[in-house]
This record gives sequence, C-alpha cells and structure tokens, in this order.
Amino acid sequence: MNFTGTARAQCREADAAAMAEAARLLREGGLVAFPTETVYGLGADAANAAAIARLYAAKERPSFNPLIAHVADADAAMREGVFPPAAQKLAARFWPGPLTLVVPVAETSRISDLARAGLRTVGLRVPAHPIAHALLRDVGRPIAAPSANRSGHVSPVSAEHVLADLADKIDLALDGGSSTVGIESTIVACIDARPRLLRPGGIARETIEDVLGEKLVTVEGRASGDPIAPGMLRSHYAPRAALRLDATAMQAGEAGLDFGGRFALAKNVLDLSPRADTVEAAANLYSYLRELDASGAVTIAVAPIPAEGLGEAIRDRLKRAAQPK
Ligand code: TXA
Ligand code: MG
Repeated sequence: MNFTGTARAQCREADAAAMAEAARLLREGGLVAFPTETVYGLGADAANAAAIARLYAAKERPSFNPLIAHVADADAAMREGVFPPAAQKLAARFWPGPLTLVVPVAETSRISDLARAGLRTVGLRVPAHPIAHALLRDVGRPIAAPSANRSGHVSPVSAEHVLADLADKIDLALDGGSSTVGIESTIVACIDARPRLLRPGGIARETIEDVLGEKLVTVEGRASGDPIAPGMLRSHYAPRAALRLDATAMQAGEAGLDFGGRFALAKNVLDLSPRADTVEAAANLYSYLRELDASGAVTIAVAPIPAEGLGEAIRDRLKRAAQPK
C-alpha cells in the first residue's frame, strides 16, 4: 500500500469493521488516530522506522522527542523493557491506566531507535480504554502513539479535535467519544535508584507515592532537547490566546477559565469544576481551552487551581500553555 498522506483522513465510528481496518492500516505502516482514556493518540507501528518518520512529520514533532509505545498488557510491556522492582509494582497497580513507565530498553525489544529518539530507555503504557485495548491486542505489536495533535498544540480529547489538527496527514481516525481522564498519562522513570516523576498526569503523584512507599524525585523540564524529560518543552499545549494564570478576578475583554465558581457567570466563562474537583477539571481542561480560544478572546484569565491531586498536572499544562510562543 502506498501512503501518500494527501487525502483527507476518514473518521469512522469504532465498530468492528473500522477496528479491523485500523489494525490492518497499522500493520501496513499507516497512521491511525484512536481514543485512549487520557487523550487521543496518533498510532504507528513502533517497529517500522518509515511509519515512525511519517508520524514525526505529520505532527511536525522534533525527532529528539521520543514516543510512548503502547501495548495490550504488562507481559507485552516486559518484552520491550527491563522492569526494576519499583516499575513492576507500579505496573501491577496502575495498568491498564494513565501511567507511562520509562525503563531501560530490553534486548528483545522491537521498538525502533527512531521511536525512542535514540535513547536506551523506552516509555511504555498499557491504556485502559476498551477501543485502544482491542486495537493493541489485534495488531499484536507495540504501537507508538503521541497525542494526536500538531506539536505544541492543545491535546485532543475527541475525534473532532484530531481532525482539526491532522485531517490531511493521517490515514484513519477512530471515533470513540470523549476521553474521560482528559489529561495525558503520568510519566515515571524507573531507570536508577529513585523513581522520578517526568510528567505529572492522570494519576496523582500522591497516589503513586503511596504505592511506592517513597517520594518521587521531581524532574524540572529544562530547555528543549533535555535527554531526561525531552518532551517537557517550556511552551506546549498552547492555545492561540494568551493565558493569565492564578487570576482572582476577570478584566474587561477577557474570557475566563474558572475553577470552583470564582468568576461571575458570563457567556465567555467556562468553569472547569464548579464543585472544585480536580478530576472533573482535568476532564474538561482541553475542550474548554479550545472553546475559549475559539471565542476570539485575546486573553483568557485562569482561576487559581490547587496543586493537589490532578491539580499538579493541570497547573503544569497551564503553565506551559501560558509561555510566550
Ligand atoms: O496519555 C498519554 O501519555 C498520551 C496517550 C496517547 O497515550 N500520549 C502522550 O504522548 O502524551 P506524547 O508523545 O504527547 O508525550 C509523551 C511524552 C513526551 O514528553 C516524551 O518526551 C516522553 O513522553 N517520553 C517518551 N519516551 C521517553 C523516554 N524514553 N524518556 C523520557 N521521556 C520519554
Ligand atoms: Mg503530546
């Protein structure tokens, strides 16, 4: 098959026929967007360097930024990576689910160097979404899947968001409704003595620390090209509008991204969680950012969000979204 990547992608509801087509496309080196519980991923065969090259190009993603390989279960993950005790513990407790483990790459791994950006470690995740899980089982090999957005944009939590960024760059998008967690997986590196938090995400730091019985070491995202947390680019997840963070009141002309009912109700205000729940807020974050951005406001005022629970991940994404582009 010849993937020229010029036609507009088909978007299909994820019924049995579409799932079979998606698996076939992936096996043949195609690019298929599919739902996960965190955000939509753009999948390609992790072992097929040509498919991975096309994936980087479609996203306009710098090739020094490695991809997460998705597999159907922990056994499959353990063929790709070497799991020290801490990683085994976290895999047993949180997979399938919104956790990515970065571990040393196994000798038996089929994942291409390009997908790992040349690193000797590999990011692995077993997603919990039934469509993602069924697809991974059917394809039977690791699927590299970054979030299905153009690099630097807001991550997609619906098939419609995927098409808005990538319609003419991919072969198929499976529609499985809205992602329920709404924020990317938490990334923990288990490559030396102490597990490190590379990216806060869909599982709260405190929950992981409880299971480990120790604190996670925090890795501050440095400038681009950082080999430890290469994806923690300072400007990321960015809408067009400027963001004004920790705003206690709105100013004239601003749109408002509220939390816990702080701002006055108005048509340009969306409340991430009127009951001040960070899990609910994470689920709404990216669609509300897109909606407020589409309103044309020059600035979006963002109410203070507590740093506990999923608030750490929400604050992290908002901070990156607020960076000058
Ligand atoms: O929830 C998620 O994780 C979603 C869904 C689709 O699974 N995927 C996702 O992928 O967020 P992406 O590519 O947007 O973000 C992956 C992050 C990047 O920041 C990348 O640098 C980091 O994972 N990463 C991947 N492999 C790594 C490695 N070996 N060492 C350090 N960081 C790694
Ligand atoms: Mg991403």
